[in-house]
Amino acid sequence: MNKIEILKSERDGLKIKEDIPRFAKEGWESISEDDIQRLKWYGLFLRNPTPGFFMQRVRIPNGICFSHQVKALCDIAKEFGNGIIDITTRQQVQLRHLKIDDIPEIFKIQDEVGLTSIQTGLDNIRNIMGCPVAGLSPKEKVDAYSQVKALTEHISGNSEFSNLPRKFNIAITGCTDDCVHAETQDLALVPAVQELAGNSVYGFNVLVGGKLGSGGYRIATSLNVFVASDEVVKVCSAIILLFRDHGNREIRSKNRLAFLIEEWGEEKFRTALQEKLNQPLIPAGVDLRSNEKSEHIGVYRQKQASMSYVGLKVPVGRIHADKLQGIAHLAEKYGNGEIRFSHSSSLIIPNVPDQKLGDLLEESLVKEFTYHPSSVMRGLVSCVGIDYCHLATIETKSRALQVAAELEGKLPDTAPITMHWSGCPASCGNHLVADIGLLGKKIKIGKEVVDAVDVYMGGRTGIDPKLAVKVMEDIPCDELAKVLEFVVPYHTREKMHPIKGKKYKRNWKKAPARKNAETELANEGADKNAVEPN
Ligand code: HEM
Ligand code: SF4
Repeated sequence: MNKIEILKSERDGLKIKEDIPRFAKEGWESISEDDIQRLKWYGLFLRNPTPGFFMQRVRIPNGICFSHQVKALCDIAKEFGNGIIDITTRQQVQLRHLKIDDIPEIFKIQDEVGLTSIQTGLDNIRNIMGCPVAGLSPKEKVDAYSQVKALTEHISGNSEFSNLPRKFNIAITGCTDDCVHAETQDLALVPAVQELAGNSVYGFNVLVGGKLGSGGYRIATSLNVFVASDEVVKVCSAIILLFRDHGNREIRSKNRLAFLIEEWGEEKFRTALQEKLNQPLIPAGVDLRSNEKSEHIGVYRQKQASMSYVGLKVPVGRIHADKLQGIAHLAEKYGNGEIRFSHSSSLIIPNVPDQKLGDLLEESLVKEFTYHPSSVMRGLVSCVGIDYCHLATIETKSRALQVAAELEGKLPDTAPITMHWSGCPASCGNHLVADIGLLGKKIKIGKEVVDAVDVYMGGRTGIDPKLAVKVMEDIPCDELAKVLEFVVPYHTREKMHPIKGKKYKRNWKKAPARKNAETELANEGADKNAVEPN
């Protein structure tokens, strides 16, 4: 058994909460290495680059929260942390520089406003993602937020789900735009319609076994199952429990659900699911997603009359608590207090009535975190980087900003493009599903060691998923903008999509390719990350 399996078998991670008051009294150095790992069941990560200080990952189901919750997080960041707040690519929030001494008080404040960091690390079901404009978008077919909430409530603090073989990523979306990277998730529910007893029923098709990171991108494949809204919790729970009971528990770099699906095949997994549920499964319906991709940045009409939502870019997802507090205030003044986080480093103020919209757009914070960023900045995403993550080879966030700023100047009118940075092959910045994916590394030029990247192109999720191709290696970061200046105008997003206007139906019988030797080889180095349980 690997060391994480041993520590889980010795004590359920959820039980570590009882010990936190004692750790707070005795200090971080009194905490054993096993308990440092167990604290990840409550989203507490002791970070090597900042000895003695913890990062806390707070769960925000579907990325939807309210101003009083955001203000509480900002107060915590300022009083107990370093004031920095990261909006992550799983639509949650990370606070930094927290001392274990203050965690009981921090938990109390979060509890009072209905926030928790439970099960956000290690072998748990991570924040359940959803379309950040669920319930608002006129294009939406099903409002999946209630299913995201119901499943989150079912798994949170539930010891049936607190010892999985590895982390488990879920997205449930009713949005027709590809905005949650469904094909990268262990389990994704995407909008679909199925004829049942002569009626068109709107619900979800089920995709399983997607992943990024160690070993590369595996495109989630269809289970050929349709789920109606009221069956979501039951079916998802059964899938997770199949993974819990049959997933590999030996080699941590080979134990995501993807590997069980590869071993069993979709047919066997579907049969096992049917047996577990003890009911016949409904075959997949028609996939209702279009080939659009949206970061939901800009001003958009809602399905509710006379209402709009405003999506603002937070470049590389990092924001100071003072500014976020200001945005929470704007959400109260112009909207209904709601704030939504997207996976692509943006935040959304919904429910702005027409008569208030003009004034909101004049606010200085709205101009700063603009709703009309440049084509380069709009799709810019970066992982944490060397400031806080010891696995990073380069400082991704500042490099990402610097290169984007240079490119903005050179290519002010280019078509929208997604540019994602990861500081190591763990791929937390999702670089394998971007128009341009940048993987950080160090290279030697003469005697000097410099920051560099490998460049990937064309990786995508959605109805026409594609594996990324590595097109260049060892580009020094200082030269990158110069190189990309000649590549970006010819990037192939449009060319790689099927022809516009055509009606797309996924052929559920022909699942997308299951393996990509090229990408696997390209990411061989990722296995080293298995030494850092995340
Ligand atoms: C080999 C495995 C991996 C390791 C060791 C690893 C490590 C880490 C670490 C250390 C952080 C937190 C850094 C910080 O903020 O201080 C992080 C965050 C994150 N990672 Fe990874 N990671 C791995 C694989 C992945 C994969 C495959 C994904 C999926 C794309 C992913 C997605 C994320 C996301 C979204 C965050 C931000 C927090 C969140 O919302 O969950 N990671 N990872
Ligand atoms: S991709 Fe690598 S460097 Fe970036 S946050 Fe993940 S583990 Fe750290």
